[in-house]
Parts: sequence; C-alpha cells; structure tokens
Amino acid sequence: MTLRMTREEDDGQRIFRFEDPSCDLSGVIVVDSLALGPATGGCRFWHYDDAAAMRADARRLARGMSYKNAMAGLPLGGGKSVIRRPAGAFDREALFRGFGRVLNEVAGDYLAAEDVGTTPQDMAVVRSQTPFVFGVPADDGRAGGDPSPWTALGVFLSIDHVFARRGLPLSGSRIAVQGLGNVGADLCRRLHAAGATLVVADVRPDAAERLRSEIPVEVVAPEAIHAADVDLFAPCALGGGLNPSTIPQMRARLIAGAANNQLATGADAGLLHERGILYAPDFVANAGGIINVAAEYLGHHPGAVEDAVHRIPTRLAQVLDRAEASGTSPAQVADAMARELIAKGAAAMAGNEGKRTL
Ligand code: NAI
Repeated sequence: MTLRMTREEDDGQRIFRFEDPSCDLSGVIVVDSLALGPATGGCRFWHYDDAAAMRADARRLARGMSYKNAMAGLPLGGGKSVIRRPAGAFDREALFRGFGRVLNEVAGDYLAAEDVGTTPQDMAVVRSQTPFVFGVPADDGRAGGDPSPWTALGVFLSIDHVFARRGLPLSGSRIAVQGLGNVGADLCRRLHAAGATLVVADVRPDAAERLRSEIPVEVVAPEAIHAADVDLFAPCALGGGLNPSTIPQMRARLIAGAANNQLATGADAGLLHERGILYAPDFVANAGGIINVAAEYLGHHPGAVEDAVHRIPTRLAQVLDRAEASGTSPAQVADAMARELIAKGAAAMAGNEGKRTL
C-alpha cells in the first residue's frame, strides 16, 4: 500500500490530503465541524486545475455542509471530500477502494456519500473497505441509495413555496433549469408534471437531448440560461453561478435550485437583494439528499425521509420571514441561523464533556 496522508488545521477546519499512486488516487477531506455529530458530506469526483483549487473547493463545500446539516436539524456536523479525476485511463473500482481505506484513517470523524461525479455504485465499492460511507443502495427496506431524487423533491417543494409566497401559480409559469444531471433532470420532470414551461441548458448536449426526448423543453446555450426570460431560475449545475456578471442579466424574479454554493461570494447575496430577486438559500432548499443520507446512517425508513423533506418549505419560510422582517438578504439570515445552531451544539458538547470529567 502506498497511501500517504497529511493533516493540517486552518480556520477551525481539519484538512486531510491523501495520495495513493498505486490506484491513481489523490484528494482532500475537510472536517469543518463536529459540533452536531460526525462531519458528513458528499464525495466530489472532478477535474481540478491544481491542488489549491481542489483544496479551496473542498473547504467551501465542507462549510456549506455544516450549515446545511444544522439547518436540516440533523445530528451531523459538516465535511466534504474531493477526489481529483485522473486525466488518463484509470481503474475506477481500485480508486474507490483506495478512497475507502482513506476513510478508515479519518476513523469516523468524516462520513462520505455521493456528490457530483460519484454514484451509489461507487459508494458500494467504498463500503467494501469501510463502514464510514452512506448513499449505498439499500436492500432491507430502509433508507439508502441515490440521494438525488430526494434533493429534487426538496427543491421542487421550495420552488412551490416561493411561487406561493409571491402569490403566483406554479402551473403556467416559466422556469429555467441550469444543469440536467441527476437532480436537474428529475426536477424538470416534477416541474413539467406541475404544469410549468421549461427552459433548460447543460454543457453536455446529450443531457439536454435525452431530456427533450422525454418532456417538452426549450434548450438554450449554457452561456445564456441565467438570462432566460422566466419567472424562476433553478441552478442545478456547479457552484458560483450567481455572480456580478450574471446577476445584472437575470430576468427571473425568483431563484431556487440544487447547486451547492450558488453565490460566488457573500456579497452576491446583496446584489440579488438590491435587485429584488427572491433567493432561496441553497443549503436550505437542497437538503433532501443529506436528509436521506442521515436516515440511512440512523437506520430510518423512507417514510421518515419523505416527512423530513416535506418540512424543508417550513424552514425556508422561517428564513424568508426573518429576512423580510429585518430587511436583510435570505442568504445572510440562513447563515446566521445555521451558525447559531452550530454554536448551540458546540456549547452542549462542551457541557457534556465537562460532565464526563467530573
Ligand atoms: P450531476 O453531476 O449529476 O449533474 C450536474 C450537471 O450539470 C451535469 O449534467 C453537467 O454537465 C451540468 N453542468 C456542469 N456545468 C454546467 C454549466 N456551466 N452549465 C450547464 N450545465 C452544467 O450532479 P447532481 O447530482 O445533479 O448535482 C447538481 C448540483 O446539486 C451540484 O452542485 C451538487 O453539488 C448539488 N447537490 C446535489 C445533491 C444530490 O443529491 N445529488 C444534493 C445537494 C446538492
């Protein structure tokens, strides 16, 4: 075995870098917070220009997971892993087996599941080496497997909520969906069934064509989707799509989608707020998948997942009510609420540790 791991701490985050040339594996695990439980978040398998970009992505995603898990009321802290996709040919099973061995080194402080670029089958390979992975297909009637349909359901319910809040009907509305992967395509099917007209884009032309063969959609260029003439924009691709160059061009008055880290920087929440665009904070709307992962970890049944995902609009309403009452952006309010919950968890943990030492 040729696994090499290093560990460092920065701004309260524990950052593990790992490399195993024997199976083309290299990546980063970030443990952002253990205040509410083991740090949990998906494993992204992606191309990165350099190690610094990979590390920065993992750190930002891990912080987002702490906030998401806290806001969803889950007994989980926040973490994330990122594996660099090898440039040439590679043995996928060997690579994910290698990742399973890496998880054993972090010894349960981080629990993985799938994210962009990984599948339930990959997680099953990881499980062959470690118990510290979820999102694995379940065959005993319990929660498990692909979290994407649950994410799509939560985003759909959030979209329904923001339309209702503005007194607009979802049926007959126009919605732009950016990214037609596991979540985006499923979301489109739900929106179509609810009577919305869809404008869509994906950088992979085959993804758009596949969807167009199933339901009526208007396909536009990926560079143009954010400026489509629609009521709501649903970012379901990668992060950073809401930024100073896209926000001024947006015609949608509502934004709710699945992508993690939709705002390029915190300041972009202010830009949306100034333009009167109602933004459903990403980590509130897209919690369905991690709710399913948590249910798998806790041994719950799919019925409990369904109930919990249907509570997402209630939490979103709390955020939007507070934002309206205080005149601040929903993103700022959601961040503050999540930080409060994490601080409470940290205080409770410190209290329990105190008791144990008495
Ligand atoms: P996916 O990898 O299945 O789909 C992403 C799609 O976006 C791909 O088809 C890709 O070609 C497309 N894409 C990438 N860049 C694009 C661009 N600039 N313009 C248009 N399309 C682009 O990923 P998945 O699972 O559907 O996730 C989508 C987003 O939702 C990601 O940001 C992910 O982190 C987030 N998310 C996913 C969850 C899940 O349960 N799968 C849970 C919570 C968040």
